[in-house]
Amino acid sequence: MLQLNENYMKLKQSYLFSEIAHRVNDYSAANPDKKVIRLGIGDVTRPLPKKTIEALHQAVTHMAYSDSFKGYGPEQGYDFARESVVNYYKSNGVTIDLKDVFISDGAKSDTGNITDLFGPDNIVLIPDPVYPVYMDTNTMNGRNIVFMDANKENGFTPMPYDGLKADIIYICSPNNPTGAAYTRDQLKEWVDFALKNKALILFDAAYECFIEDKIYPHSIYEIEGARKCAIEFCSLSKTAGFTGTRCGYTIVPTDLTVTTSDGTDMSMNAMWTRRQTTKFNGVPYIIQYAAAATLSPEGIEQCRENIAYYKSNARIIADCFKKKGITYFGGINSPYIWFECPDGMESWDFFDYLLNNAQVVGTPGAGFGKNGNNFFRLTGFGDKDATIEAVERIDKLLK
Ligand SMILES: Cc1ncc(COP(=O)(O)O)c(C=O)c1O
Repeated sequence: MLQLNENYMKLKQSYLFSEIAHRVNDYSAANPDKKVIRLGIGDVTRPLPKKTIEALHQAVTHMAYSDSFKGYGPEQGYDFARESVVNYYKSNGVTIDLKDVFISDGAKSDTGNITDLFGPDNIVLIPDPVYPVYMDTNTMNGRNIVFMDANKENGFTPMPYDGLKADIIYICSPNNPTGAAYTRDQLKEWVDFALKNKALILFDAAYECFIEDKIYPHSIYEIEGARKCAIEFCSLSKTAGFTGTRCGYTIVPTDLTVTTSDGTDMSMNAMWTRRQTTKFNGVPYIIQYAAAATLSPEGIEQCRENIAYYKSNARIIADCFKKKGITYFGGINSPYIWFECPDGMESWDFFDYLLNNAQVVGTPGAGFGKNGNNFFRLTGFGDKDATIEAVERIDKLLK
């Protein structure tokens, strides 16, 4: 008889965004004259940079002629795309090798798929609150998850402590949903912990392009020793508006080895290559061609215009909370503003309060973990005029 992977039954129902949609639809149906402003989404809204669009058109043309047509490509990505990632890292002062780079269809797939490489008995350390994919993919594989509390007291950047046990450590910096980022010194502590305890850090840098303060590294490889204990995931989704176009990259350094039960040193890069060549047939040539153009200096310059737009929205929201003395995190090195609900309100109650009284939609922090129960996420990914109007309404509502 067929047996299922019953770990799937342990997954919590993910009802966050459907519940939000449901409540907003009900409200709009009952109040058709009210204009609802949505600042809850984690998706980009600006069109792709001009350089990206030009490259997409060119790559489509390549596919029209037999001498430039492309069929199956290398599973790890075309060298021209891997090279563009190497050069992008170089522009941030980080040296990586072409062989370290795996072109992916986004950070979501790879942060989930990487779990294929690990045995069932690892202790997996995951911050709470955080992007839910880390927890769900490890739950699907039946692993032991230990949560580390991220809260107001530790600035939403939990640190290693005496007696902490972990084999796999997830770090997301700047974090979704809190917007909090780890400083260089803090990340050094995590790298030292991982090296000392033979643990592996899975570093999600999906929002690195929002960093402007030099104390926050864009990549974990800015930290000495990280090449021996960390895998990094990144993506063009938020950097360049590729959420629908789909392209990312994962860095598995060639000098990252793990000792197997029989004492052999196993290369994680070789294992990931084996996994990808078996289960993945690469990102479309057209997309990789556009991604490489996007990561060129001219492409990145154009991406920065969109990022500056989102960041100025985030700043407008953050400035309002600052003025009102409301505790908030993020908003400067992140598109997210994570703030404490007023008067000790629970995040879903605050969601209803904000919708009913200001017609502004955000994301209740409870959807990202128990430490989000009294917090709320707004994003800078909306339209500027709508953001200004939403902030004026919030300013009036929250005395
Ligand atoms: C922290 C984090 N990692 C990864 C992703 C997924 O990115 P991608 O679009 O590259 O799959 C997201 C998307 O919101 C995210 O917030």
